[in-house]
Amino acid sequence: MVEIAPSILSADFRRLGEQIATVERAGASYIHVDVMDGHFAPNLTVGPFIVEWVRKATKLPIDAHLMIENPDNFVDAFARAGANLISVHPEATYHLDRTISHIRQAGCQVGVVLNPATPLAMIEEVIAEVDYVLLMSVNPGFSGQKFIPSSLDKMRRLRDLIRMKFSQARIEIDGGVGPHNAAEVVAAGAEILVAGSAVFSAEDPAEALKELLRAAEAGGRVTA
Ligand code: DX5
Ligand code: ZN
Repeated sequence: MVEIAPSILSADFRRLGEQIATVERAGASYIHVDVMDGHFAPNLTVGPFIVEWVRKATKLPIDAHLMIENPDNFVDAFARAGANLISVHPEATYHLDRTISHIRQAGCQVGVVLNPATPLAMIEEVIAEVDYVLLMSVNPGFSGQKFIPSSLDKMRRLRDLIRMKFSQARIEIDGGVGPHNAAEVVAAGAEILVAGSAVFSAEDPAEALKELLRAAEAGGRVTA
């Protein structure tokens, strides 16, 4: 089953609650929140305070993507604010294994994230311990960037690694995903598609989400 995680980074924050309700009704499975600190990623976005408001706006699980240095400092705050899934980049923490346990102790599902230039080897030793791997198909920082095509081959290799290590990890893809490439990314192994601009920059976000889901499901019927 393919699932969509709309990223509120592209939402209209004047009416955030409404936008979240719209994508929830249209069939979103998660609400993706991009957290950036201006150090790990070249942008400043939102913190636990906004996650608290997102929590009040939806029953969907909140998928917090932490693009911040020393994520351990904020894991408990995001969990308390209502995040259900928390993912971290291996470069952002000295002790990835410890950070993974920390997220789990906080009661959240755990994800590890790979930047486009970060090799799979960075997560090989922990892949059996995580619930999902988030593969970045753009460099962290902004919505609306172009999908990096080599992500497809990396995803196939990630799928092999998951199998080889008997991991239960699901594959989430983030960046430049839209109806034009959804089938391809799903055929390559993606199970959760993050979509910012493809959903929220569309004139009708509900219709855009449904279109993305239809395109993604078509990819599920193809064997890569
Ligand atoms: C980029 C973020 C993405 C971004 C996706 O740093 O992690 O989640 O919001 O936006 P689109 O789908 O527009 O590439
Ligand atoms: Zn993200």
